[in-house]
Amino acid sequence: MLYAGMDFDAIDLTNEPPAREPQRQYYFMKQLREWLEIKKEKLHRPLYANVTTFGCQMNARDSEKITGILKIIGYEMTEAEEADLVLYNTCTVRENANLKVYGRLGQLKKQKEKNPEMVIAVCGCMMQEKTVVEKIKKSYRNVDIIFGTHNIFKFAELLSMKVLDEPGKKKMVIDLWEDTTQIVEELPAERKYPFKSGVNIMFGCNNFCSYCIVPYVRGRERSRKPEDILAEITCLVKDGVKEVMLLGQNVNSYGKNLEQPITFAELLRRVEKVEGLKRIRFMTSHPKDLSDDLIEVMRSSEKICKQLHLPLQSGSTRLLEKMNRHYTKEDYLLLVEKIRKAVPDITLSTDIIVGFPGETEEDFKETLAVVERVRYDSAFTFLYSRRTGTPAAALSDQVPDDVCKERFDRLLALVQKISAEKNEALVGKTVEVFVEEENKQDPALLTGRTSGNHLVHFPGEKALIGEFIQVRLEEGKGFYFLGSRQV
Ligand code: 5AD
Ligand code: SF4
Repeated sequence: MLYAGMDFDAIDLTNEPPAREPQRQYYFMKQLREWLEIKKEKLHRPLYANVTTFGCQMNARDSEKITGILKIIGYEMTEAEEADLVLYNTCTVRENANLKVYGRLGQLKKQKEKNPEMVIAVCGCMMQEKTVVEKIKKSYRNVDIIFGTHNIFKFAELLSMKVLDEPGKKKMVIDLWEDTTQIVEELPAERKYPFKSGVNIMFGCNNFCSYCIVPYVRGRERSRKPEDILAEITCLVKDGVKEVMLLGQNVNSYGKNLEQPITFAELLRRVEKVEGLKRIRFMTSHPKDLSDDLIEVMRSSEKICKQLHLPLQSGSTRLLEKMNRHYTKEDYLLLVEKIRKAVPDITLSTDIIVGFPGETEEDFKETLAVVERVRYDSAFTFLYSRRTGTPAAALSDQVPDDVCKERFDRLLALVQKISAEKNEALVGKTVEVFVEEENKQDPALLTGRTSGNHLVHFPGEKALIGEFIQVRLEEGKGFYFLGSRQV
């Protein structure tokens, strides 16, 4: 049997587990597979696993890796949380992400009483915070496995420690690494979509924006080697993938710390050459590092989508400095101008934080003014959330909640108005759409995306899924379009 290129039959479980990765993990997967077979026979039914993801695209990709491991072990994946194994891949970027996880863990208590052999695992960014782990150890004793962001690849080993090594002895398995320089390649991943995939190009972040907890929970920046990235993409394309999303906290600093440094623009040039690949997207781009070379690659590329996510965070230079963002309002606006000149039909999206400590009405008005100037196609707006351990958390001039909320509503109204106007201007145009799936609400409709990342629903047959077709945008509906196929 071959899994992700690994010959399972050749793994001898009478030997000690190999020390090398990823071979070591395949050993544990085989061990667990045999254990699961016995359980299935006993129960006369399959064993189900539920993986719930909170947060960003990085977490979504990590969850695909975990799902890949679970499938090799032999679990059936389910959306229902009444499963034999439940895993939460957590996010901690804002406080409310944490609260959701605690709520869910509380709900699982009853389920575990019904099914005492149920395995509950939690991983991801939240677990990299000591206070969180202490709280889980104290108040959520039903959790079986805790691991973090640096050792996702070890999931099979941790699961085997829980269920195989000491059966009956219900100890919590906790494995947390503060940081790592290790990147384990060639582990399985189970894609959510057959035709598109995220591809990690780097991990961690070195930017330390003063409000952000990511550098503390995801560690220092580490880039994958270009040859490993290209090998993965080539493999994905052979397996039917037509669109990749290159993932990194700041893709623009990709490759700087490799033994043989390479720029992100150069990596894109190489990815572009992968035959059979049709679309390339990437996120996230920090404005301070976006090079002229990258703009040139985007301009001349046939595969890079006409879409850029360029977080602004604030339109006030004074606040940007306090946020440690390393650009001014003017730098940002100039950059947008340059990009639009090179790629006139590009779709721009952004992230904006409202209520950063010390934000005055004047600062906020500057943010509104930048939004009016740039006219984003879409914007993710966030209420500032105080994250313990970040420099901004120690600032004394936190903005009162009611002021934040009032500003947030004003910003949202403006962002939505502009977005609707921009969408309205596209109605009547015929565009290329990559058909991704059947519409979840209405099976008579298909759902696809334009190069600019606009979501389009239109009537069509399932056979079109995975194809590129021409669709006329008939009606703008807020964050999506209704369209009709043009033949
Ligand atoms: N509060 C609110 N928003 C935050 N973000 C990051 N940290 C915080 C925080 N403490 C937002 C930023 C970032 C996005 C992923 O999350 O806008 O770009
Ligand atoms: Fe956080 Fe800034 Fe790094 Fe983005 S670039 S992950 S906002 S520290």
